[in-house]
Order: sequence, then structure tokens, then C-alpha cells
Amino acid sequence: MTDHSTTHDAEEDIRNRDIKIYVNGEIVHRDAAKVSVYDSGFMLGDGIWEGMRLYRGVWAFFDEHMDRFFGSCKAIAMDVGMDRAGIAEALRQTAAANGMTDDVHCRLMLTRGIKDKPFQHPALSTSGPTLVIIMEHSKPVNRLQSAGISLATVPQVRGLPNSQDPKLNSHSKLNCIIACLQAEAAGADEGLMLDPHGFVNTTNACNFFIVRGGAVWTSTGDYCMNGVTRQKVIDLCRANGIPVFEKNFSLYEAYSADEAFLTGTFGAQTPVATIDGKPIGDGDRPVTARLQALYKALIADHVAAKTAR
Ligand SMILES: Cc1ncc(COP(=O)(O)O)c(C=O)c1O
Repeated sequence: MTDHSTTHDAEEDIRNRDIKIYVNGEIVHRDAAKVSVYDSGFMLGDGIWEGMRLYRGVWAFFDEHMDRFFGSCKAIAMDVGMDRAGIAEALRQTAAANGMTDDVHCRLMLTRGIKDKPFQHPALSTSGPTLVIIMEHSKPVNRLQSAGISLATVPQVRGLPNSQDPKLNSHSKLNCIIACLQAEAAGADEGLMLDPHGFVNTTNACNFFIVRGGAVWTSTGDYCMNGVTRQKVIDLCRANGIPVFEKNFSLYEAYSADEAFLTGTFGAQTPVATIDGKPIGDGDRPVTARLQALYKALIADHVAAKTAR
């Protein structure tokens, strides 16, 4: 364990030492789960992934995750090799092999497959795609909910959509990893990244929101991951009379916000305690707490609706 927190800190669960992993149709013990050193994902980061959570046997917002996943694969001309029903079946088999139904986090990864030679051209990937599904028993630690997370603004900025579109959940996460390293060097848990114009955009692993005067603000969405949880929070605000704005804002408004929080499939909504050492608000987080409760209820309704079918 490191001496700092991350938004993906989970309670230690020894069952994860013996999980079974899906690799191209086979489900094997984690120690036997391997991909080739010629795999496009290993060699070049040429792949797309999704992070999903299983709640009482239901993959939360599966359709939204698949929209993003299939959309990203299409954008980079990567053949998934199966349809959504095929992915759902692979997930079902992996969960069943592990006896998992609840408090499960999944990383679904698809790469362009094994290359004939160690060079860049996608046409060298001739094997067909590599699909890997890792599922772990995972419960976010509670301490972050009260303590909150610390952010440092980092020099690394979000990319323009015409370089590497930040909406692509690519295996190559170097932009985010550099931001994370910079945050760590600054003594913070996670990096707060600006867009190319200097507006506050997102963190290296989650979407970023602030609350000012009872209204919820987040970036325009132009340079960040099109987070499923981000959209759910925006929709919940709209449905529950909480003013919400997707707009440009600067660090000036972030530092003086009443509350700030991060969103992501793993941690749902994680409160932010400090940005660049400055405490955010007075530690009272009524809007964050309300959105956390609304999101929990949304998941419960979603799971109930899927289970009733
Ligand atoms: C950079 C980044 N931002 C935000 C998110 C959160 O997205 P979601 O809410 O769909 O989990 C992710 C998750 O993959 C991410 O990688």
C-alpha cells in the first residue's frame, strides 16, 4: 500500500489472488492468463478498454458502456469480432467462472491482436483481436468518502481531439500517466488537468465537477473522457432540479468552489478535499451527498428493472 490515496483504492480481498481471467474464449487462473509479446496492445497501446461494475448480477449501464466501446473500436477501425450479445455472454461466463455477482469491477480489454512483426502498421496485426476480461472483487474504501481526495494541478494538459481524442479509452494512457506522476511528485493523490486553453478539464482518471452556490459545474466535455458516470450525474441534476452547467471555468472558480467531486464507474462520486493545497469549501458537502444518494438510487432502480425482465 502506498502512503497516498487514489480514486481506485479498494479494500484488500485475498480472493483476487485466485481469480479466473477470460483470454480469447478461454477462462484460466490469473497466473496462466497471458498475451503474446507481439500483441498490438502490449507493443503499441493499440487497444480499447472499458471499466464496468457488477451490481447484484447486473452490469451497470451496459448499453452506455457498449455504445462507447463499439464507438471507439469503430473510430480506430478495430474489429471487435463479436456483437454486444457476444460481449455480454463473455462477461456472463467470466462472472460465473468466478462465482461473482456483486461488488465486482471489470476491465474489458480489446486489442488489435498479435502482430507478424514488431512494427507499427495495423495491417501487421493479422491474428484477429485479443479480448481479455479481468474481474476483481472490489469495494471502494470508505475513508475517501469522508476524507476526500487531494488534487494537484499538473503541467500535462489534455489533448486536442485531432491529436489523440481523449474520448478514446485507449490502452495508451501515457498522457494520463504523466499527469498522475506529476501529481504524485507534487504530493497529491490525483492530477487535475487543464485543457489546451487553460480551462479546468478533468483528472487523470476521473471526470471533475465543482459546486458553486448550489449549482453543479463541469467542463464542456470537449477534452475529457465521455464518462458514463459524468453523464449520469448531469442527467440526475437535470431530473432533480439541480442547476447544472457544462462550461469553461478556470482554477479561480475551482479553488473557491463550495464543493468539488470526481466521477467514475469505480468510485461513483469521490469528494475532493484540496486542490493545490487549498481546502475546498468548509468540508460540508450537501450537494455531493445528495448526488451520491441519487446515484445510489439510480443504480438500485436500474438493477431492479434489469432483474425484473
Ligand atoms: C481519463 C478518464 N476519465 C474519466 C473516466 C470515468 O469514466 P466512467 O464514468 O465511464 O467510468 C475514465 C474511466 O475510464 C477515464 O479513464
